[in-house]
Amino acid sequence: MADVQRHVARFTHGSRIPGWDRAADLEKEPAVVPDAATTEVPGELRAAIEDAVRRFPVGDSAFIPALYAVQAQYGWCSPEGIEQAAAVLGRTPAALTAVATFYDMFEMEPLGRKSVYVCTNISCSLVGADQLLAALEEELGEDPDVNLRGFECLGACDIAPMASVDGVYVGPIELGEVPELANQIRQGDDPLPAKQLIRRPCADPKVAEQ
Ligand code: FES
Repeated sequence: MADVQRHVARFTHGSRIPGWDRAADLEKEPAVVPDAATTEVPGELRAAIEDAVRRFPVGDSAFIPALYAVQAQYGWCSPEGIEQAAAVLGRTPAALTAVATFYDMFEMEPLGRKSVYVCTNISCSLVGADQLLAALEEELGEDPDVNLRGFECLGACDIAPMASVDGVYVGPIELGEVPELANQIRQGDDPLPAKQLIRRPCADPKVAEQ
């Protein structure tokens, strides 16, 4: 019973949504749509955003892929990148910033380009997520290329404790595998290939046959 009642830390590791604790600047001029004719936009960023608009033509549904494109271009959602995306989309930078600050996966400050999210939510916590995060911090905490952090449930509780390495879901990760995983992250290698969610056979026999 004591085991069941033990304290499980929640909402720690800086995993809350950024920006909500910052007051709005009431003195600021109203936002305007940047001039598409005079705003310089890198070619690959423009192409990625225009492709997103083709795929998500309704309303503001291209905002999220556009923000991902900005993050891929600059390593974070920089004000310059948001201004450029706003020019291509014909919307204000404020509209894009509102979306970027709502979602936890968009970085509003420059951080390491390799994103390693360790899930520290309930299912993962119960099987050692905190120890996993601590072990990875010990290995990678000083690496400026790596944005390592705890995260709320990543939706892969069946492979707990797990992490997302640049979007690749890996788990269950054993503490003994952390040095190997850290090395793969440093080198840009495939993370723990045998533990990747995408390589698991599907329970649906029709899908498994394909
Ligand atoms: S609790 Fe970790 S993936 Fe859901």
